[in-house]
Amino acid sequence: MNDTPDVLWLQWLLGALQSAQAALLQALHALGLVPTLHGQPAWPWAWRLAGDTLRFDLGQARRLAVSLGLLSVALLLAVLGLAWRRRRLPLLALAGLLPVLAPWPQWAAVRVAATPASFHVPPTGFDAGAILHGHQLYRQLCVDCHGADGRGQGPSAAQQPVWPPNLAGPLLWRRADGDLFWHVLHGMRDARSGQASMPAFTDRLSADDAWALIDAMKALAAGQMLRETGQWLQPVRLPAFAIRCPGAPARVASTDLRGQRLRVMAAGDGAPPPDPRVVTVALAPTAADAASPAPAGADCQVTDPAAWQALALIAGHGADATALAGTQFIVDRAGWLRARSAPGAADWQEDDLVCRAAPSSSPSLASSLSAAASPAGATPGNDGLGALIARMDAEPVRYVKGGIVH
Ligand code: HEC
Repeated sequence: MNDTPDVLWLQWLLGALQSAQAALLQALHALGLVPTLHGQPAWPWAWRLAGDTLRFDLGQARRLAVSLGLLSVALLLAVLGLAWRRRRLPLLALAGLLPVLAPWPQWAAVRVAATPASFHVPPTGFDAGAILHGHQLYRQLCVDCHGADGRGQGPSAAQQPVWPPNLAGPLLWRRADGDLFWHVLHGMRDARSGQASMPAFTDRLSADDAWALIDAMKALAAGQMLRETGQWLQPVRLPAFAIRCPGAPARVASTDLRGQRLRVMAAGDGAPPPDPRVVTVALAPTAADAASPAPAGADCQVTDPAAWQALALIAGHGADATALAGTQFIVDRAGWLRARSAPGAADWQEDDLVCRAAPSSSPSLASSLSAAASPAGATPGNDGLGALIARMDAEPVRYVKGGIVH
């Protein structure tokens, strides 16, 4: 998740490529040149430009940057040539020559296969309700091939012309959400044989269902990764769910608390004391419990009945949501789930930091501890939570998809 080279110009270039294509699509749509598909403008080409390869091939990226630079100069010269009659011929000739001389990158390095939904934006926002709805659909329609855990070992997997992929790996984090959405609704074909590989579900799923499935598959994959490796190897956001905080307007969402560190506590035996370093959000297993006043020590109370099960799925307790009781989560200021404590643990441990920015090069907890304890440390407190917070703040999650930092 953090393997981008720290090259600012490249990030800028890839971000600009993505925005330019999205803007082009909006413009074509406004002119009525492309249709609306599943509620959003349809990308009309089979290819798009993306940074998946450029991120690893700086040489090609440089060529693209230089060529785009020359192209802009050529455009400027052309405008100048049209305005300045006496120099028109040489200026236009130069404008025509520059793009020809530009060191364009190899086509294969900048283009990736596109679907009509490549630029579609998920409308669900990783919402707890969508995760649950999607998980129900997944159990009805998808487990047969993809397996209950998403690893592609369902009972019918072996009879497929292509083995279903492991959805509990990085795949869902690498693909554009719009492409996943398209593949879920319209199926896939094996690139070599042209044979249908993944079936289409347009007759059984609405667009909202398909988006919910994508949220659910990510939650399921997060839980599976945590079970298998003890870590969220791909970054996972805190789902959006309704909460109630005293003094705040009646309707607040967990996502409205971005910018603050959260501690989400799934009710278990005993509540920890309040802590000024985090906003404590109490989570109850049922909606009825959620209606009662927030427990002592909590700043906010979750009122969304889907939240418990959504978090149980992300924590790897999909089959037994009651196992979540007593678990705590720490969410960083950007909204990423970073740490998870075992039920009933007395203090936070290094192993609780299950979403790490850079496992190999990061400082040990001991040095984070001393940083936290030092007067200049960003975070007060030299207990386990202080060390964890210091480390989270020092190593923010950088989630890169299509070469772009999200
Ligand atoms: C009949 C078996 C079968 C069923 C049922 C099935 N899939 Fe698939 N799925 C596959 C196969 C096979 C592939 C690999 C296709 C390929 O790479 O050509 C696949 C690929 C995928 C992918 C990867 C897409 C990508 O961009 O690479 C996703 C996501 C997916 N399936 C989701 C689902 C969901 C959600 C459901 C239920 C609504 C579902 N599948 C039902 C067989 C199935």
